[in-house]
Amino acid sequence: MMDDWTTLGYLVAAVLFILGLKRLSRPRTAVRGNQFGAAGMLIAVMVTLADNAILSFEWIIGGLVLGAAVGALLAVRVQMTAMPELVALFNGFGGGASVLVAAASFIEAADLATGTTRLSAAAALASLIGAVTLTGSLIAFGKLQEALRWSGFPGMRVVSAAGAVAAAVFGTLMVVDAGNALWLWLLIAVGAVLGVMVVSPIGGADMPVVIALLNSLSGMAAVAAGFVLDNSLLIIAGSLVGASGLILTQIMCVAMNRSLPAVMFSPAPSGDGGPSADDVYAGKVRSTSPDDVAMLLESAERVAIVPGYGLAVAQAQHAVRDLARRLEDRGAEVVFGIHPVAGRMPGHMNVLLAEAEISYERLVEMDDINPTFEQTDVTIVIGANDVVNPVARTDPASPIAGMPILDVDKSDVVVIIKRSLSPGFAGIPNPLFAADNSLMLFGDGREAVVEVTKALQQI
Ligand code: TAP
Repeated sequence: MMDDWTTLGYLVAAVLFILGLKRLSRPRTAVRGNQFGAAGMLIAVMVTLADNAILSFEWIIGGLVLGAAVGALLAVRVQMTAMPELVALFNGFGGGASVLVAAASFIEAADLATGTTRLSAAAALASLIGAVTLTGSLIAFGKLQEALRWSGFPGMRVVSAAGAVAAAVFGTLMVVDAGNALWLWLLIAVGAVLGVMVVSPIGGADMPVVIALLNSLSGMAAVAAGFVLDNSLLIIAGSLVGASGLILTQIMCVAMNRSLPAVMFSPAPSGDGGPSADDVYAGKVRSTSPDDVAMLLESAERVAIVPGYGLAVAQAQHAVRDLARRLEDRGAEVVFGIHPVAGRMPGHMNVLLAEAEISYERLVEMDDINPTFEQTDVTIVIGANDVVNPVARTDPASPIAGMPILDVDKSDVVVIIKRSLSPGFAGIPNPLFAADNSLMLFGDGREAVVEVTKALQQI
C-alpha cells in the first residue's frame, strides 16, 4: 500500500517538475513555474521521508532547518550581479551530494556483500561526475569572484587526458572488484583533480557556458545517484536538470558564437595586441549632457533602450521605466533591446526590467530588434558595452569575434550612458563610443537617467 502512495507521490512531483520547467521558459509564467517546482520538491521530500524512515526525525528536521536557514540567508544577501557565483556553488553542492550518496551506498553494499553490477556501475558514475562537478564548480566560483586567477600549467591537457584514463580504470575496477572501497576513493580523488584541471584554463566570457555545463553535470550525477538508490524520482529530476543544462549550454554557445569544444579546450582570444583604447578613442569621443539628450528625445518618434551589466550595477531599472513612461506620454514608441548574454547571467536583463514592471511585450529579442535599428531615431545604451561592440562583426582576432551583437550603431543617434571609457567584461575598447553618430553621457546609470527624465519634464 505504502509503495502505491510513494509511486503516486513521485508521479505528482515529476509532473509538477515538468510543468514548472515549461513555465520557467517564459518570463510571464516563470514565477508560477518556480512555485510548481518548489511544490514538486516538497512532495518529493515528504514522500521519500515517509517511505524511508531510516534516520530519526530529529536529524531530518535538524538538516531541513539548517539547510533552509543557509538557503534563506544566501537568497536574501546575494546581489543579483553575483547570481552566477551562487549558481556555481549550488551546482557544486549538488555534485557533492551525489558523491556522498554513491559512496555511502557502495561502502554499505561492500560491507554487507550485497553489491550488484548495476549498483557499482551507477556508484562509479555518480562519484566521478559528482566529484568533477564539485571541484569544477568551486574553481568556477573562485574565478567569478575574481579570487582565483590560476589558469593551469603547461601540459595540463595531457595530464587531464591521463586522469580521464585513470578514472575509466578505477571505475571499471569498482565494478569488477565491488568489495573493495579503495577503488571508490581513488575514483573520487581523480574526479576531484579532473574538475580542477578542466575548469582552471577556462575564463573570461566562456565562464557562463561552463556554469551551465556544470549545472547539466550536476543533473547527470543525480541521475546516476538515482540508479544507486533505485529512486525513480531522482532519476527523472536529474534528467530534467541534465537536459535543461545542456540546452542552456547550447543556447549560450550560440549567443557567443563559440562551440562547446572550443570553450572547453581552446581559450577565447585575449584581445592582447588589438588596438589600444588611445588608438580607438583619442580625439573622437563626443560627450553630451542630460539637457542635450532630453532635447534629442523630445523630437524622437522611436526610441530603443539597450540595457547591459551597468544597469544592474546602477540599479537603474526603475529610473529607466520612468523615462520610458515619460517618452510614451509624449507619443514616442519605446522598445527595449535584449541581448541573450547582456549582464552576468542568462535572463539577467529580463529579470531586472520585470522587477520594475516593464511589460514583457516591450522587451524585444536581439534577432527581432536588429532589423529595426535603422528606423530608430535614438538608441540609449545604458551600462552595456560588449553586447553592442561592432568589433564582434569586424575583427576576427577579438575575444568577441563573431558574437552576435545588437546593431545599435545603425540607429540615427546612439547615446551611451556609462561612467567612463572603461572596457566591459571582454576587456577591449569599443569603437561605438567614438562613432560619428554616438554621444557619451558619462555618469552613473541611474543618476544619468533620472537627470535626463527631469530635463525632459522641463521641456
Ligand atoms: P559589459 O560588456 O560587461 O559592460 C558593462 C559596462 O557597464 C562597463 O563598460 C561599465 O563601464 C558599465 N557600468 C558599470 N557600472 C555602471 C554604472 N553604475 N552606471 C553605468 N554604467 C556602468 O556588459 P554587457 O554589455 O552587458 O555584456 C556582458 C558581458 O558579460 C559579455 O561579454 C558577456 O559575454 C559576459 N558575460 C555574460 C554572462 C551572461 S550569461 N549574461 C555571464 C558572464 C559574462 P564604466 O565602468 O565605464 O561605467
